[in-house]
Amino acid sequence: MAKICVIGSSSMDLVVTSAKRPGAGETVLGESFKTVPGGKGANQAVAAARLGAEVTMIGRVGDDHFGEQIITNFKQNGVSVSHVEPVTGMESGTAHIVLAEGDNSIVVVKAANDEVTPAYIDRAAQVIQTADIVMIQQEIPEETVVHVSELCAQYNVKLLLNPAPARPIPAQVIENAAYITPNEHEASIIFEGLSPQEALRQYPNKLFVTEGSNGVRYYNGEQEIVVPTYKVEAVDTTGAGDTFNAAFAVALAEGKTLQDSVRFANRAASISVTKFGAQGGMPSRQEVEAQL
Ligand code: RIB
Ligand code: NA
Repeated sequence: MAKICVIGSSSMDLVVTSAKRPGAGETVLGESFKTVPGGKGANQAVAAARLGAEVTMIGRVGDDHFGEQIITNFKQNGVSVSHVEPVTGMESGTAHIVLAEGDNSIVVVKAANDEVTPAYIDRAAQVIQTADIVMIQQEIPEETVVHVSELCAQYNVKLLLNPAPARPIPAQVIENAAYITPNEHEASIIFEGLSPQEALRQYPNKLFVTEGSNGVRYYNGEQEIVVPTYKVEAVDTTGAGDTFNAAFAVALAEGKTLQDSVRFANRAASISVTKFGAQGGMPSRQEVEAQL
């Protein structure tokens, strides 16, 4: 069983569907509103657990009702919450999502996720040390990402950095990470000044650029490899990236080759978009294997 430690955000997604996305100063009438568990860290933890990994989440919630729901959701999905502590007097993270015109737009309020600090991480050092892979994203403070990357280097544990949402990454984090999975926009910010091709060549077998329906691109030391995605009828693409990252981590931890791991991850992600909500369509192991 793959042992995965996810360090990151846990949020409640407040999702509105609307035919039209309002512009600045504009009001439109929407169609529906739902609250569903989300946050990139939590999504990746839940996705990895559904795919059969033993998952420990290191994160924080508020001492509010959303926080309770987030913890219940982790438990229902078999994610260990021994390192998900409520922050007294703070709100849980929220993501304010508009699904309109065939795409999402999201405002994230980190709130309690900002309390995923280096000192908080140190209390879970044991979990990091014994993981096959540690996963991290960027809805928590940058200093925490730096700190975790250093711990992973020190413990010789593989770190998978999903650099979302986009922000520049300190050079030592790029160095310390085993795998980095930006989309094209994130890659252009992280590797500013390098062409996409140059960036890939600089980080063979480390940098995996997700190009939406065009597939996933990496450089294997000899040539660029593009692993195609699967065509499906998308209902909600929120969380597809998280599903990709989780499935990639699970496959790698189980010893699959890079290319097979990307293929497995692409399949899992393609299934995830067929249902509403970030976690709604995240597949079980059997579902992915039946369609590989
Ligand atoms: O990656 C998808 C997630 O990003 C959503 O669940 C939402 O919480 C946003 O932060
Ligand atoms: Na979905």
